Amino acid sequence: MGGSNIQKELTQVVEAPHPLIKHWVSVLRDENTPSSIFRSAMAELGRLLIYEATRNWLPTIIREVQSPVGASMAEFINPKEPILVIPILRAGLALAEHASSVLPCSRTYHLGMSRDEKTLLPSIYLNKLPDKFAEGARILLIDPMLATGGTIVAAIDLLKDRGVDTTQIKVISAISSPPALQKLKTNFPGLQVYTGAVDPILNEKGYIVPGLGDAGDRSFGT
Ligand code: URA
Repeated sequence: MGGSNIQKELTQVVEAPHPLIKHWVSVLRDENTPSSIFRSAMAELGRLLIYEATRNWLPTIIREVQSPVGASMAEFINPKEPILVIPILRAGLALAEHASSVLPCSRTYHLGMSRDEKTLLPSIYLNKLPDKFAEGARILLIDPMLATGGTIVAAIDLLKDRGVDTTQIKVISAISSPPALQKLKTNFPGLQVYTGAVDPILNEKGYIVPGLGDAGDRSFGT
């Protein structure tokens, strides 16, 4: 009993305090930001959040390197343990855009989910996940808007069904709402969330307020 309480406390939400993160969130919020700029702001925000989230988390190896003036033991990212990046389509594509340039070794699996406008329930329209993930797989699950939490919870359930330990998942989001964060905390103790901002309100249509509107529509203009 005591153990599960301690585990719950391990669930972490990091609202990264960097001014560049605040800047890109503000660009995204502005309704006058055109689609092309919106998409690149989302990609920049993703780059910074991934950088923050992977601090002290990337597997490394040490080997000797000879520079032009001497030898040293040098640390590299281990190419045998790539980080698995899972963007939830379609808005997750923009937030995940720079993942492969931030991470020297990563592999991307796409997951397409949409939510019903009336019931707000998620459904899967594309699933490129393997049947089973390798033990210890480290996963960045990328969904820009954690609103009701229905989509992200369904996505994590899919990962759990495929053998993933939820303490090995980091969720990357642009803006989150308290109900979604509470759902994650209750369902997945030990999970970590890196977000650009936590906004207070979820309206009757399941949109985050003030938020940024529909992240997919604004990214792609369609
Ligand atoms: N999805 C979005 O794109 N925006 C929201 O505010 C909520 C869900």
